[in-house]
Amino acid sequence: MCGIIGYIGKSEAAPILLEGLRRLEYRGYDSAGLATLNGGLSIRKCKGRIANLAELIAREPICGSIGISHTRWATHGGVTDENAHPHFDQSGKLVLVHNGVIENYQTLKEALAAEGHQFKSQTDTEVLAHLIGKHYDGIGGGATRKRLVEAVRKALKEVTGTYGIAVMHEDVPGVLVGARRGSPLVLGIGKGENFLASDVSAIVGHTREAVYLRDYDIVSLDGEDFEISTLNGGASGFEISKVELTEDDVSKGSYPHYMLKEIFEQPDSLANALRGRLSLEESTAKLGGLNMTPTELRNIERIVLTGCGTACHAAMAGEYLLESLAHLPTEVEFASEFRYRNMPMNKDTVVFAISQSGETADTLAALRESQRKGHRTLGICNNVASTIARESDGGVYMHAGPEIGVAATKSFTSQVTILTLLGLLLGRIRHLSTSEGIQIMEELQAIPEKVRSILKQSDYIKTIAEKYSYAKAMMFLGRQFNYPVAMEGALKMKEISYLHAEGHPSAELKHGVIALISPEVPSVFIAPDDSVYDKNISNIEEVKARKGPVIAIGTEGDTKLAKVADDVIYIPRCPDYLSPLLTVIPLQLFAYHLAVKLGCDVDKPRNLAKSVTVE
Ligand code: M6R
Repeated sequence: MCGIIGYIGKSEAAPILLEGLRRLEYRGYDSAGLATLNGGLSIRKCKGRIANLAELIAREPICGSIGISHTRWATHGGVTDENAHPHFDQSGKLVLVHNGVIENYQTLKEALAAEGHQFKSQTDTEVLAHLIGKHYDGIGGGATRKRLVEAVRKALKEVTGTYGIAVMHEDVPGVLVGARRGSPLVLGIGKGENFLASDVSAIVGHTREAVYLRDYDIVSLDGEDFEISTLNGGASGFEISKVELTEDDVSKGSYPHYMLKEIFEQPDSLANALRGRLSLEESTAKLGGLNMTPTELRNIERIVLTGCGTACHAAMAGEYLLESLAHLPTEVEFASEFRYRNMPMNKDTVVFAISQSGETADTLAALRESQRKGHRTLGICNNVASTIARESDGGVYMHAGPEIGVAATKSFTSQVTILTLLGLLLGRIRHLSTSEGIQIMEELQAIPEKVRSILKQSDYIKTIAEKYSYAKAMMFLGRQFNYPVAMEGALKMKEISYLHAEGHPSAELKHGVIALISPEVPSVFIAPDDSVYDKNISNIEEVKARKGPVIAIGTEGDTKLAKVADDVIYIPRCPDYLSPLLTVIPLQLFAYHLAVKLGCDVDKPRNLAKSVTVE
C-alpha cells in the first residue's frame, strides 16, 4: 500500500520521480505528491491518479535534483489534497513521505499539539513529520547529515506501527534519509545518483544494484554514497543485490492491460514454476528450498496453509491437493484470522505462508506467530527479496515474474502448481508408487500447453462476457478441487468489474444461495468431467429450473453439458487434481473481458492496492 520514490543526484528529480510513481501506482492510487529541494522546498500534491499530479506539475513546474514522492492508498484521513503526501513538519523545512501506519499517532499528535504544533491533515504521517522535525530542532548544532539521521532515529523510537519513509530537510540539502519497519524500502545505487523506493520496479531503468533494507534499518544517502545503520545506532549487515528485473518485465508490452498480459504469461510462468523441480530418476518433485531432509518431510503430521485473498484460494486448492496426493491432514486459514486465533497445532505441524508480494502484513504476522510457537514456517512467494521470503525457514519461489495488475492471476496458478509439487513430494515419501509419481509428473508437464490452448479462446470468452454484462450479480459454483476456483472466479469478478459475485460449493445452492437465482443473476458452473460431474449437472438443472442463465466450464468432448447450460467454455482433459490450473483461466478471461466491457479500470480497481502492507 502506497508507493515511495526518492531521488538524489545531478538530474532533474521531478521527471524521474513521476516515472517511478507511474510504476508504483499499483500500490495505491487515490492521491499523489512530489517535493523537490532547490534552495527551498517546493511541493505539488493532489487527489487522483499520477496523471493528475503530472498535469499539475506541467502547469506549475517544480525543479531541483533532490526529491521525494508518493502515491497513496488512504488509511488515516480521507482522500483529499491536504492528506496527500509529502507532509511538512512544524518548521516547514522538513518533508516526509510514508508507507505504513503509525498506530500511536493520536497520542503523539495530542502531545505535539500541546507543545504548539499545528496540523493541516488528518494523517498519521504528518504527525511523524512533526515528530522528526521536533527532534531535529531539539538536537541543535549545525545542519548536518548526522543530526537529521539522529532526529529520524529518535522519532522512530517513539513510534509503534509500520513505516517505510523518505525524509528531506531544507537545511541539509544534499541528503535523503530513509527507514523501514514492516513496509518495504529499497536503496537503488546509481552512478552519481541514488534512489529510495518501495519497490525496485520504480528504479529499474536507472540502476542494476540495490540494497533491500531490513526492518529497523535507517539509511542516509547523497548522490555518491550511502550509510546504513540500525534503529539502535549499530551497524546494519546489509547486502548489495543485483537487480535482475528489466524495463520489459515491468512494461505492458503490446497488451492493453497488465492483467491481460499476466493472464497470457501463464504458459511461461507455469513452466518456470516447474523448471528444475521434477526428477525423472526419483519420479518425484525436488524442492530444495524447503531445507528439509526426507526424514523431516516424513515426520510432518499436519500442514497449515495461510494467506490472503487469491493466495488463500490457492491454499484452499492446496488443501484438496495435499489431502489427496499426500494423504496429509491439511488446514487453511486466512492469515488475518490465523494471527489472532490460538489454533492448536501439534509439534509436527508445518505452516506455509503463501504470498505473491511477500509483503502482505497479515501473512507476515501469521508467519511470525507460527515461528514464535516454534513451528517450521515456509514461504511460497513470488518476490524473492520480500520480507516473507527472507524471514521464513525455507520455501519455494514462484518465479512468475512481476505481477503488476492488482487482480492476481498468474500468481494463483503458480501457487497451485507449487502446492501440487509439494503434494507429489510428500505423497512419494508416503504412499505414491514410482509409476504414480511419473504419471503426475507427466500430467503436470502437459499443463502449460493446455493453458496455451485455453488462451486461444479469449475472443470467444469475450463474446460470452459481453453477453452477460447486463447481470446484476453472478454466482460461481464448483465442487471439490473446483470449489476454490469458484471462490477465485467470484473474487476476480467483484474486484475488477464491481459486480456482486459469490463463490460457493455447488451443493450449497439448496441451502440458501438458490434464493438469489433469477434471470438477472447468471451462474458460472465449473463442471469438468470429474468425479463430481453428475452432481454438478444436477445442480445446473436446479438453477435452470429457476430460470437462471448458466455458463459452464466443461471438458472438451463433453456433449451433455451444452444441452443443460446456455454457454460452455471447454478446457482440455486433465486429472481432477490438476483441473484448477485449467478451469481458472476462462474465469480470469471472463472477468477481464466483462470488466473492460463495463469500462472499469482493470489494472487499478477502485479502493484496492496490489500489496496490502497494513493490517
Ligand atoms: O501479495 P499477496 O499474495 O500476499 O496478496 C494477497 C492478496 O492481497 C491478493 O491476492 C488480493 O486478494 C488480490 N487483489 C486478488 O486478486
